[in-house]
Amino acid sequence: MFSSLLTASLLSLALSASAFPEYRSLAGLSAAEVRAVARTFQSTPGAQPPPPAINDTSSKLVFDDAHPYEPARPGDIRGPCPGLNTLASHGYLDRSGIATPGEIITAVQEGFNMGWDLAAFVTYAAFVVDGNHLTNLLSIGEKTPETGPDAPAPAIIGGLNTHGAFEGDASTTRDDFALGNNFLFNETLFDQVSISSGDRLWVNGTLDITSAAVHRHNRILDSMARNPNFTFTTPRYLTAYAETTFPLAFFVSHQKSDTSLSLGLDDARSFLQNNKFPDGFYRRNGSYGLTEVFAPFPDVLPGKNEGVGNYVVDPEDPGFNGGGLCYAYYKQSNLTLAMYPDPTDELRTALQQNMASFYSALGDPTCEEVFPFGQ
Ligand code: HEM
Ligand SMILES: *[C@@H]1O[C@H](CO)[C@@H](O)[C@H](O)[C@H]1NC(C)=O
Ligand SMILES: *[C@@H]1O[C@H](CO)[C@@H](O)[C@H](O)[C@H]1NC(C)=O
Ligand SMILES: *[C@@H]1O[C@H](CO)[C@@H](O)[C@H](O)[C@H]1NC(C)=O
Ligand SMILES: *[C@@H]1O[C@H](CO)[C@@H](O)[C@H](O)[C@H]1NC(C)=O
Ligand SMILES: *[C@@H]1O[C@H](CO)[C@@H](O)[C@H](O)[C@H]1NC(C)=O
Ligand SMILES: *[C@@H]1O[C@H](CO)[C@@H](O)[C@H](O)[C@H]1NC(C)=O
Repeated sequence: MFSSLLTASLLSLALSASAFPEYRSLAGLSAAEVRAVARTFQSTPGAQPPPPAINDTSSKLVFDDAHPYEPARPGDIRGPCPGLNTLASHGYLDRSGIATPGEIITAVQEGFNMGWDLAAFVTYAAFVVDGNHLTNLLSIGEKTPETGPDAPAPAIIGGLNTHGAFEGDASTTRDDFALGNNFLFNETLFDQVSISSGDRLWVNGTLDITSAAVHRHNRILDSMARNPNFTFTTPRYLTAYAETTFPLAFFVSHQKSDTSLSLGLDDARSFLQNNKFPDGFYRRNGSYGLTEVFAPFPDVLPGKNEGVGNYVVDPEDPGFNGGGLCYAYYKQSNLTLAMYPDPTDELRTALQQNMASFYSALGDPTCEEVFPFGQ
């Protein structure tokens, strides 16, 4: 009954004359809307427990015959994350760019050997604020009716593009929200790898730990200098440094090396700009999870600008100094409660389950579980 109610309300959303005046019948729906309706029929609504860790974390060819690259079709969604975009372009994730948390957790393990704990932590940190708890769907980019009917504001259900919920400032290849487009590849910023670091880096055709750290730092300095609203607190603080290591940890084909942490310019561009595995790409050998993540030289403390050039440190935010993951969990929990102050019973159940899944990603944490939606 629940699923047919949901389908009916989604249909009415898709068919409502005010939302889509040009569409009055199923035959008149756009491809994306038809997929949205079909998906809702097929999917099990509500929260689901996260899938288990994959057992075989050996290296293997992942750009294989079963996962051809196909450019995004009209209506397919891509967003700020080159990892998820690439998985969608190869069918490890639904090519529409709409996925469940479980599908994302499995896909990042299968395609890249991201460790289960890191995958689950990042996925739930984003899903609880950007996803649709009732339909269990997340857009990896823009807000879309394909994730199902909205919950009442202040819930956003805006997908990964939503600024300030999970996505944040000082990305390496995407602009700050206050300065430009926060999800599209930006050539100027990509090229800054060479501008910022002289003749040592892209000019020689590779990204390494030193150049990645220099670029990370320069992107922060640039945001401090130009973005009056620059915000660099948890979770963005943690993800910004972690993501700096991702191209080296995940985008180097095992056929080239697992250990040299040196990435060629063309391969970097393949992922970051074209959302495509380089030909013959082998995933890394062994997983890269929470215990493997390292932050190259986090020499700026968490904080935010109060006007350009006036960066003020947030003394509450531990950053990487112990308990950072727990602080991120508490902060996302608080934000989720602020978005869902008065959920219906079904929504409350889904929120409870997703918050529990989020906590489970912490493994054996030193912090207490919180129950903002009850137990
Ligand atoms: C596990 C689920 C994942 C989620 C929910 C996720 C989400 C995101 C988001 C929202 C951003 C934008 C960050 C910002 O601007 O604030 C991002 C950036 C990034 N992601 Fe992911 N991601 C995931 C997994 C991955 C994986 C598996 C990889 C690599 C294989 C990856 C590589 C990157 C990189 C390199 C960036 C930085 C892009 C830049 O700075 O220009 N991500 N991710
Ligand atoms: C991995 O192996 C364990 C123990 O045999 C099993 O419970 C689990 O389901 C396996 N995971 C997958 C994804 O098959
Ligand atoms: C300013 O920063 C806050 C906190 O991250 C965010 O919610 C808001 O969307 C930002 N506004 C702009 C224009 O960047
Ligand atoms: C790329 O980012 C730079 C630096 O913020 C900005 O000036 C430029 O307009 C952006 N380019 C595009 C195409 O958005
Ligand atoms: C980059 O290439 C130049 C010219 O071959 C060389 O002198 C320099 O040492 C290289 N830098 C690195 C970091 O390899
Ligand atoms: C992958 O790593 C394992 C464990 O370190 C090692 O035994 C194995 O030889 C590696 N496989 C390849 C293909 O490098
Ligand atoms: C979350 O909210 C609680 C209750 O308002 C507050 O005590 C706590 O400091 C908040 N935690 C974070 C990390 O924002």
